[in-house]
This record gives sequence, C-alpha cells and structure tokens, in this order.
Amino acid sequence: MERDLRTREPRVVVATPEEHAGVAADAIAAVLGVCAETPGCISVALAGGSTPRPIYRELPGMEGLTWDRVAFWFGDERAVEPDDPESNHRMARAALLDRIGVHRGQIHRMEAEREDGDVAAEQYALSLPDPLDVLLLGIGSDGHMASLFPGSPALQEERRRVVFVKAPAEPKRRMTLTPPVIRSAVFRIVLARGREKADAVVRALEGPLDPMTCPARLARSGTWILDSDAASRLESTPRSFGEPGVERRRDVNDGTAKKRGKG
Ligand code: 6PG
Repeated sequence: MERDLRTREPRVVVATPEEHAGVAADAIAAVLGVCAETPGCISVALAGGSTPRPIYRELPGMEGLTWDRVAFWFGDERAVEPDDPESNHRMARAALLDRIGVHRGQIHRMEAEREDGDVAAEQYALSLPDPLDVLLLGIGSDGHMASLFPGSPALQEERRRVVFVKAPAEPKRRMTLTPPVIRSAVFRIVLARGREKADAVVRALEGPLDPMTCPARLARSGTWILDSDAASRLESTPRSFGEPGVERRRDVNDGTAKKRGKG
C-alpha cells in the first residue's frame, strides 16, 4: 500500500516576492510533468482570487507544457455572471485559458450564478474526477481556503463534493469544493504571497490540525509556494528556498505516480 502522503509534513518552497510567480509556475509545470507520465486526462482545479493571476500568466510561455490532455475545473466560484470582474472563471480565462488554446470541452466552469444552486453544485460534483490530479489553492488572511471559511458548516461536509455556501466576504453566495475533495487530490499546491497571509500560513502549517478555525489546514500536507513575506512567521516548518530552474522540480514532486485507470 503506497505510503499515504497526506500524513507527511508540508513541503514549503519560499521565493522572493519578485520570483514567487515564476517559482509557483515552475512548481505547477513540474507537477503536470509528473502527471503526464501516466496515460489519460490530467485534471486540474484552478484557484481563484488575485494571487494566482501572475502565476497563471507565466504558464503559457513555458517550454514543454502541452495542454491537450489537461481538463480544468475550479476550486470555488462566486455567484456572479462568468464575465463579471469578480468571477474566478473570468480571471483564469484571461490569465491562462484563453492563451493556451484549450477548447470549451476542456473547461468545466462552476455555474455558481444559477438560481438552483444546489442542483448546480450537484451537477458540478458529477463532472469532478475523484481524485483530482492537481488542486491549486489560495489562502485568505483569515485562513479560508476555496470558499471554506472558518466556522462554516461546509467544513463538516463529508458526503457531498461540491456545495453552496454563504461567505462572510462579498460576493457572499459561492460554490466550493468540500474537504473530502481537498484532502483526496493527488497534488495540492497552495499559493500565498504577502505579509497579510503570514498569520494564516503559520496557523495552517503549525499547531492543531482542526480545519474549523483554519480551513487551510486541510491542505497542510500539500506543497506550499510562499513568498518570503507570507512565510515570515513560520517557526518550525522546514522549507526550501526556491530559485528559477529545474533543480526545484524535485522539491515539488510528491512522487505520487498514480496508477490512474480513469479516462
Ligand atoms: C476566492 C478564492 C479564495 C482565495 C483567497 C485568497 O474565490 O476568493 O478562491 O479562496 O484563494 O481568498 O485570495 P487572494 O489570492 O486574492 O488573496
């Protein structure tokens, strides 16, 4: 039985603020390279918010990345129209998807704007591979992850894989992946930059594992790509210092060469 990598310690790569986007893009490219060693579709769930934007922008120009086997899902979405400035889908299309020539069938948008939100969440869950190959995540300064906020009942959801939630932050109505999906993803990459995330990062990576007060703990055993500001309060968590180039690729390879039977 393959060692359950989720019980291992986090892998933390720290970059300078200037290099964070490039280091994170390289980490994503390295993980896609490992996934590509196994036949079949590679499922990637994209993070929302503002941190991923410069990282996504780096990807289209990178050597050796082919996207024809990649299909995209989302970690969460606000209940807004797809062309709304608040839409995570809109951000991802502008920064990445429209620039790598993927066709519509490769993009699974969360239709969070639908009135029948619970049905939309259920239908989205049916489209979601189990497990996801790559899950990209951000972290809020309050420790939220995707649209799982501290104290949310959705943090106790163990059956449904996608739910609608009421967020404390605007836009309040959101669709989000649930804890089982975050825990089961093969490669989890958490992207965080800026001093305002330092406290949430240390609460996520050190101390108790209970996600109720810090949902980002759900991805503790993933790979965390931080800039030095976001990492500035880490005491006991070992970290490596990212630098451009291939060396880092070994840092982020979980070594989970999955036996994927799925298409
Ligand atoms: C969202 C995101 C959310 C995000 C954090 C960090 O829809 O807002 O999915 O979980 O990752 O809020 O956001 P920033 O990257 O903008 O700081």
